[in-house]
Amino acid sequence: MKKRVMAVFGTRPEAVKLCPLVGELRRRGFPVTVCVTGQHRQMLDQVLRAFGVTPDVDLDLMRPEQNLAALTAGALAGVSDALARSSAGLVVVQGDTTTALAGALAAFYAHIPVAHVEAGLRTWDMDRPWPEEFDRRAVSLIARLHFAPTEAARQNLLREGVAPERVFVTGNTAIDALQTTVRQDYRHPLLDWAAGRRLILLTAHRRESLGAPMEGMLRAVRRALEERPDTAAVYPVHRNGPVRAAAEKVLGDCAQVRLTEPLDPVDFHNLMARCHLAVTDSGGIQEEAPALDKPVVVMRDVTERPEGVAAGTLLLAGTSEEGVYRAVSRLLDDPAAYGAMARAENPYGDGFACRRIADVLEKV
Ligand code: UD1
Ligand code: UDP
Repeated sequence: MKKRVMAVFGTRPEAVKLCPLVGELRRRGFPVTVCVTGQHRQMLDQVLRAFGVTPDVDLDLMRPEQNLAALTAGALAGVSDALARSSAGLVVVQGDTTTALAGALAAFYAHIPVAHVEAGLRTWDMDRPWPEEFDRRAVSLIARLHFAPTEAARQNLLREGVAPERVFVTGNTAIDALQTTVRQDYRHPLLDWAAGRRLILLTAHRRESLGAPMEGMLRAVRRALEERPDTAAVYPVHRNGPVRAAAEKVLGDCAQVRLTEPLDPVDFHNLMARCHLAVTDSGGIQEEAPALDKPVVVMRDVTERPEGVAAGTLLLAGTSEEGVYRAVSRLLDDPAAYGAMARAENPYGDGFACRRIADVLEKV
């Protein structure tokens, strides 16, 4: 008899990366309980709909501009209750969000083992990304099984003293998700709007960049666009209030930019597959865009995805206006640099990460 698995997630990126695993486990006969915290609401529901996953438990925790302490407390209590009412023998969490941390801690308190998907990413800087670097290190202390996307992530865990037999290199499940979303015959009005121009897909939401740094980054993109009339940008704006304010203030009246609501992953992945360049501070987009042969300008000072920088698919631009402006301009003006990045190998996997994870779970 297979043990019941409880998958705990709550934000958009966790859902993109865990829904394919929920599907794989169910196909293999695992009883799976999907427990969502609702840390995100609309942005989570878009992903659940796209992947056809219906939560068994929905804690519905999102409150506008809620602080991290309240969210953590609610998620810890809510997941603990859900575990007490279930027969789960294993809890799966993903990545580095508040939900991942609270889900792992709830399982720890209930003496239920934890499997961590996307384990071992590190910047070694607790302030960047904040609070995610702490979240993922804390989850690593709790986890019994560590599914590292890359060998470099595995090495990080070994350096921290994790037993090698508990670490499995699987690739990133985001690449699995792309296999089901990207289509040849895809059309979208935003693509028609940008037709004939080089399309930049833009996103920004990191908490440590809110305020003046984020406005500077967005101003940099605007300058780069306005100097090149053959370019356009689509920016699906995260629903966080301060992010919306910055986007509206800096780009709201720019004719070369379309600010949109967050897109569902089918639309977002297909736009990414057809864009010229991604400019972002997102974690997941640093993994997905290289798999679609798209260079990425990363608007961060450090990244926990150094494999992509080493492989040449990510250009770490920093968070200053000048740094972002220089990086975007270079990729728009230097075809050789652009071509080398577009051709670089994607280090985040072959789209079979869920299979590898399920293989391990069948054995343990
Ligand atoms: C969270 C994660 C971050 C991840 C990001 C993905 C933490 C601490 N941060 O950050 O690691 O990169 O999600 O997007 O876990 N909101 C809505 N509707 C939604 C989603 C958000 O209105 O569907 C608004 C709410 O006002 C909410 C705010 O955005 O309070 C911030 O959401 P929250 O999940 O706390 O933080 P993120 O910055 O999204
Ligand atoms: N994404 C999406 N719609 C959007 C923007 C992003 O579906 O409008 C997807 C994206 O493809 C990736 C994930 O959301 O799978 C990344 O989420 P986000 O950037 O919010 O978080 P991070 O990866 O930085 O934690």
